[in-house]
Amino acid sequence: MSRLVLSRKLSLFEGMDTLSAIQARRAIKHYDPEHRLTDEEEKTLLEAAMQSPTAFNIQHWRFVLVKDPEVRQQIRAAAWDQAQVTDASLLIILAANKAAWQDPAAYWANAPEGVSDFMLPAINQYYAGREQVQQDECMRSCGMAGMTIMLAAKAMGYDTCPMDGFDFDAVGKIINLPNDHVISFMIAVGKGTKEAWPKPGQLPYDQVVINNTF
Ligand SMILES: Cc1cc2nc3c(=O)[nH]c(=O)nc-3n(C[C@H](O)[C@H](O)[C@H](O)COP(=O)(O)O)c2cc1C
Repeated sequence: MSRLVLSRKLSLFEGMDTLSAIQARRAIKHYDPEHRLTDEEEKTLLEAAMQSPTAFNIQHWRFVLVKDPEVRQQIRAAAWDQAQVTDASLLIILAANKAAWQDPAAYWANAPEGVSDFMLPAINQYYAGREQVQQDECMRSCGMAGMTIMLAAKAMGYDTCPMDGFDFDAVGKIINLPNDHVISFMIAVGKGTKEAWPKPGQLPYDQVVINNTF
């Protein structure tokens, strides 16, 4: 039994703990084009993504599910013809609203008394006039949500491929991206049909783990 099939079976029937999902996840590029997630699976995956943390709880990620085959084809043409764009069960574009900090009422609506009085002005103070911070925050938040999606998908028995190999402006136009939103990257999710090649080269631990200061 291939590693791919084995990891899918393990995750489906025995559940997969977080560390196992982290170890088993690979960027998979070939997918069964006939397979689709059920509505329930799709909701489970996206609701998991929505549990990802955001600074000040601004939840500014927006998950664009591209299901229309024609739109997928257009995105594939803007993505170096990468097959996973059209063949994966789900194509999720992770975008974020750079202006979400301007409308903070909902983010602390259920907080204990006094907390939202403190938080709302703090949000404004942190982001107002700081465009680079607004942009960076979108990338941080989408990065974390993307990892949640990839690990949740693995735990559900699916494979994923994170992707930034595409023309961002062209894809923005295709999906009618609002001016105050930005695309971070996209993720193909589905039933992998071909294993990834073995990891091509991991850097040594001491090169990437720094104790205290550089
Ligand atoms: C931000 C980002 C963008 C990527 N873009 C692409 C892409 O456009 N096409 C692709 O096939 N793989 C893409 N990858 C996958 C990487 O090549 C892959 O994650 C890396 O080689 C490590 O392999 P692994 O994820 O299987 O461990 C991307 C990964 C990341 C994190």
